[in-house]
Amino acid sequence: MERNTAHTDRPSRGGGVDLTALRREWEVLAPRWISEVREGTNSVREGMLDDLMLEACGDVTGMRVLDSGCGEGRFSRILAARGAAYVLGVDLCEPMVAAAKELATGRDEYVVGDVQSLTFLADASFDLAISYLNQCDLPDFAANTREVYRILKGGSRFVVANLHPMRSAPGQWQRGGAGEKLHVAVDHYFDEGPRRFTMMGMPLTNFHRTLSTYVNTFLGTGFTLERLIEPTVRPEVLSRYPDLDDELRVPNFIIYVLRKEGRRGVPVRS
Ligand SMILES: C[S@@+](CC[C@H](N)C(=O)[O-])C[C@H]1O[C@@H](n2cnc3c(N)ncnc32)[C@H](O)[C@@H]1O
Repeated sequence: MERNTAHTDRPSRGGGVDLTALRREWEVLAPRWISEVREGTNSVREGMLDDLMLEACGDVTGMRVLDSGCGEGRFSRILAARGAAYVLGVDLCEPMVAAAKELATGRDEYVVGDVQSLTFLADASFDLAISYLNQCDLPDFAANTREVYRILKGGSRFVVANLHPMRSAPGQWQRGGAGEKLHVAVDHYFDEGPRRFTMMGMPLTNFHRTLSTYVNTFLGTGFTLERLIEPTVRPEVLSRYPDLDDELRVPNFIIYVLRKEGRRGVPVRS
């Protein structure tokens, strides 16, 4: 799977990006995304992020889990296979949801929806929520954070994997004469907003925000920050996924392990 690191444009201030246009971009990308996830090598997820995400989720046995921005459902299926009682995947992109439904296992369900407004879900009705590389795609990640907070039971976690703010800022690898990677240039870090880049050969828009914007929004919503993980790659994994070598040098991703305070909800078992 192509790694989300090829970006060059300076983010423009302000919004001006409507949801219909963003949805359309994902609809156009979806066929390639789905075949890449299912047939390609997913080095970032398999070699680095999945294990950390699963560790942060902890024992999911019997839990009701929300997968916010589930794509074609791979991580929902993983959580269902690990014993979650029910996993609800929500995604804006109809072809992604249709593909997820095709592989549904019986304990995972998928709906088309905007994760910035989860009004169809009841307050305090989930034991765990995850967002796997989705908040960077949202014009209003704060709305998603508030909605997830609302639907979680007290004591539950929200595990958010995202692009590292140092890499969602404009800038890319600078290369030497032989094409070797020298260093990453980061610029315009404090200019938050949409940016255009290319993913799997298709144009896509996502959103850059600073680390303090993310953390202060999580805290301001009411979450506590249990752990902050800056994933890198282990040597034994590197031999299997040599394309991850630059993950030893520059952080591309970040995982926020958040908790809604309160008495731990009793997991619903079906
Ligand atoms: C980078 S993909 C990640 C998919 C999946 N979580 C994974 O890790 O394979 C981002 C997903 O977010 C979805 N998305 C973008 N904006 C959304 C929104 N407002 N509400 C729900 N899903 C959205 C896209 O359709 C896409 O499937």
